[in-house]
Amino acid sequence: MSSPEEQAYCLLTEYAHGFMVSQVLFAACELGVFDLLAEAPEPLGAVAVAARLGTSSHGMELLLDTCVSLKLLQAETRRGKALYQNTELSSTYLVRASPKYQGNMLRYLARTTYLCWGHLAQAVRDGRNQYPEAFGVPSDELFTAIYRSEGERLQFMRALEDVWSISGRHVLAAFDLSPFPLICDVGGECWLHRWSSKTHVPHTFLSACLVLCPLPGCSGALAKECTSLYPGCQVTVFDIPEVIQTVKKHFSFLEDPRISFREGDFFKDPLPEADLYILARVLHDWTDTRCSHLLARVHRACKPGGGILVIESLLDADGRGPLTTQLYSLNMVVQTEGRERTPAQYHALLAPAGFQDIQCRRTGGIYDAILARR
Ligand SMILES: C[S@@+](CC[C@H](N)C(=O)[O-])C[C@H]1O[C@@H](n2cnc3c(N)ncnc32)[C@H](O)[C@@H]1O
Repeated sequence: MSSPEEQAYCLLTEYAHGFMVSQVLFAACELGVFDLLAEAPEPLGAVAVAARLGTSSHGMELLLDTCVSLKLLQAETRRGKALYQNTELSSTYLVRASPKYQGNMLRYLARTTYLCWGHLAQAVRDGRNQYPEAFGVPSDELFTAIYRSEGERLQFMRALEDVWSISGRHVLAAFDLSPFPLICDVGGECWLHRWSSKTHVPHTFLSACLVLCPLPGCSGALAKECTSLYPGCQVTVFDIPEVIQTVKKHFSFLEDPRISFREGDFFKDPLPEADLYILARVLHDWTDTRCSHLLARVHRACKPGGGILVIESLLDADGRGPLTTQLYSLNMVVQTEGRERTPAQYHALLAPAGFQDIQCRRTGGIYDAILARR
């Protein structure tokens, strides 16, 4: 039994090494380890994995064994040689062919978020995002910095979608939305490609020419959930022109009669008419002042009897948990102008905008739902 002091040191070491754990996961995904092992008819040794992925066998062996310790892989020893295969975790979330694949989000975390977090102390000092420091781009216009290239815009859009294959049903079923047949998804880029068809493009090819080729379709997770839960719903997706145009250029699902598109700036332009306005992960990007402005606009556009569904990761009442949401909130400092909020903080934004009957439902997952009526 170790002493409290030793236990504290273990915890400190675990925290200090947290970034290495992330990088093992990111590197194994980037190199294609999990896809290769999923496609292989039998478990593979490190030399075979290294040969097929074009890496050093020394580095690959160490990476694979570390993945075993992290339960991302399992190994068995046959005739003195370690053979590796995916675990249930990696088969479910890290293999491209899985409907719950999370690799787009991991790639965004590895290539964008990680670089911004390298400036966390400075972000806390300044109280502002770190795009200038991490990428040398001005960030006065938040989404101009986030969408600083077409490749980055596509990567962001695909990354955000991944979570809906896990959390989509929970947030859409948190309330009965059937009284709201006409839905406007405000800032809803990612709903767009949930309706797209699935096309397979090899991972490495995709990474190399994200800007040049059509995107592989995504899982269709939230659309499937939405249409299976509410088969009669019609959705107007409202997002900034460059996002809508990017989607029209890269996706082939415009024939779906349940979907229409409106380009515009939700801070300035008229919002489409709807029974329900969904704001999923929109308010967390912005200051209270900007949120109040946007919510007042949504309230004005909302039909009498209509509603608003806010989908966000909710902080505990005292703001000191859950840890994942606290980390997301710090991420908002590093990458946006906003923060994650408690239910009371969302109430304090929605009520002055004119919304009433504000109900908050925790789903037990990362994202929660708040429904309010005009
Ligand atoms: C964090 S993303 C959330 C996307 C999606 N709702 C989801 O949860 O997956 C924020 C969205 O707001 C959109 N957006 C940002 N500023 C906007 C503006 N001024 N007008 C319209 N849409 C905007 C972005 O393009 C993006 O789609």
